Amino acid sequence: MMKYKDIYRASLNSPDDFWADAANKLRWQKPFEHTLDASNKPFYKWFSGGKINMCDNAIDRHVDEGRGDNPAIIYDSPVTNTKQTYSYKQLRDEVALVAGVLISHGLVKGDRVVIYMPMIPQALIAMLACARIGVIHSVVFGGFAADQLAVRIQDSEAKLVLSASCGIEPNRIVEYKPLLDKAIELSSHKPEKCIIYQRPQCLADLQEGRDFNWEEQKAINNPVACAETLATDELFILYTSGTTGHPKGVVHDIGGYAVALNWTMENLYDAQAGDVYWAASDVGWIVGHSYIIYAPLLCGCATVIYEGKPVGTPDAGAFWRVVQEHKVKIMFTAPTAIRAIKREDPEGKIVKNYDISNLESLFLAGERCDPDTVSWSQSHLKVPVIDHWWQTETGWAITGLPMGIEKVPNAMEIKIGSAGVPIVGYDVKIVDAQGQEKDVNEFGNIVIKLPLPPGTFPTLWRNDEKYLIPMTKLPGYYVTGDAGYKDEDGYIFVMSRTDDVINVAGHRLSTGAMEEVLTSHKDIAEAAVFGINDELKGEVPLGLVVMNNDAKLSAKDICPELINLMREKIGPVAAFKLVACVPRLPKTRSGKILRGTMAKIANGEEWNMPPTIDDPAILDEISEALKSMGYPHPIPPPKSQEL
Ligand code: COA
Ligand code: AMP
Repeated sequence: MMKYKDIYRASLNSPDDFWADAANKLRWQKPFEHTLDASNKPFYKWFSGGKINMCDNAIDRHVDEGRGDNPAIIYDSPVTNTKQTYSYKQLRDEVALVAGVLISHGLVKGDRVVIYMPMIPQALIAMLACARIGVIHSVVFGGFAADQLAVRIQDSEAKLVLSASCGIEPNRIVEYKPLLDKAIELSSHKPEKCIIYQRPQCLADLQEGRDFNWEEQKAINNPVACAETLATDELFILYTSGTTGHPKGVVHDIGGYAVALNWTMENLYDAQAGDVYWAASDVGWIVGHSYIIYAPLLCGCATVIYEGKPVGTPDAGAFWRVVQEHKVKIMFTAPTAIRAIKREDPEGKIVKNYDISNLESLFLAGERCDPDTVSWSQSHLKVPVIDHWWQTETGWAITGLPMGIEKVPNAMEIKIGSAGVPIVGYDVKIVDAQGQEKDVNEFGNIVIKLPLPPGTFPTLWRNDEKYLIPMTKLPGYYVTGDAGYKDEDGYIFVMSRTDDVINVAGHRLSTGAMEEVLTSHKDIAEAAVFGINDELKGEVPLGLVVMNNDAKLSAKDICPELINLMREKIGPVAAFKLVACVPRLPKTRSGKILRGTMAKIANGEEWNMPPTIDDPAILDEISEALKSMGYPHPIPPPKSQEL
């Protein structure tokens, strides 16, 4: 059997042969003319000239090859006490019908549909229905506020919205329809139609002529077949936080994404058709797109869609109950979810109540994983726990341990604290600001040599210019925005971001966007938001604001108002609960706010007086303000190195 190193080398030395071979495992409507078209760098195109339909490969192919009765979706919802399984045949019929509904409302190939739905099978059906007819979907996470939904509707110019009447959080029912109505009001682009899936927990009011009932529409329409789509056509747009307040529309195309994801199932996750695969994430994130929906279905697995939390629905045994009941073989979640469980079950007593013998591996991603979380999982689950690193932009793992290539028990060594070795197609380097390669174990910027492998973002939605920023900053490389180091065995340690993106409970958020919200308040002159260490969520945002001289509110009254404003403008998912007023913000002489230094003070980390600081005395005022908020925390979590 070939070893990881040989396969990895082959992927870099002969990418055309490597990926053409991987592509042949899928069903093509027309063979591709070029495996890699590099005629317009850095806008590389994979499988150009070829035609392939994602839905055909994720569903119909399995039915045609005799796997129609195999389970495709296992829906498990402790918050509604529901369990439901769809076979591949049932899923095909549902998806074909919903695709028929979309066509009846005038949608054609290339149109955009925004999907705003909770973790219910209809969310997957909606996405696959779009893919079936070549319509580009853009899913918006349910924890976002109406303003964020509006930005996404506007930027994508969605012709139609697919939504549900509500989502269910453990402490409340989240009515989606009022949020959707408000978002449409805020957006200057108005979608023509909305199709709403009515849930029994809360029925939405439908607006005559614009809103339609999902089930009623299904009843009056006919199923449709898969359309012919180019490999280079867009499959979806997923908005993610960048360094500015405006989210970036990351695009993924059909062919490259399908080929790469399909490759990962067997080789990275060690999955085969018929296995049960569970990514405990949300359809609103890239992990959800890639590993709740597309990859497991491409591989013919059963994918679990879980509407619940790791704790509290009903307890810290929830995940292990799902693993036991559905015989999950491969599981994927964010470290924060495990930290939540660990906090309630530090000795792993609850885990022992469940038979999790079918579980073969646990994969973690979404944020830096602290070593304690890996150790706890390994000792109580007794399976390999693999941290792997990726981004919305890449769509699949950049580093990890390829469990399907070097199988347990001869698998490659797990190094706690590392996110593994580069996966095929990714030539990962650690460099300084000038692009000079760093030595082994030296900290630096993590960059990836171009071209990126298939499945990674070919551009940003209608924004080639912004796409070029990380692609041209260091010619020939993609600058990931992450920093870390590589050890003597080639293992990568991803330690921190180099920009203003923070990771709150595995959710990527922009501190710049939060600052914009704070300064939009009429009494606020200036604001700084930075991430501080949090034992559960990894990072949480902390805001410091300077009030206007003529402010109407007192410093005491303004903080709760700002917290509410953030909830209203970004959403509850921002978990913005820490804010204080300060007389001034520390800046460099050129006016740059010293967020990194303030974060270090709040985290109780060592810090140096920046030589370019305008007025050093301001940092004393900041320290005082942070102290009054209880920071540094008495027991700070393990330090992470910063660039
Ligand atoms: N719709 C509406 N609101 C949502 C939501 C959704 N889909 N998801 C989260 N929220 C709300 C929560 O209700 C909460 O609101 P509150 O402030 O009123 O309590 C807020 O957003 C923060 O939510 P969350 O981040 O889930 O924090 P929590 O304290 O409720 O739970 C964890 C903590 C660790 C259990 C939870 O964050 C978790 O499961 N994280 C996993 C992250 C993940 O899967 N990331 C994907 C990348 S792999
Ligand atoms: P997202 O695009 O939402 O998936 O967030 C991507 C970012 O999350 C990355 O750029 C990293 O900063 C962080 N991230 C994801 N996975 C890991 C990991 N395994 N280790 C460290 N950071 C990670």
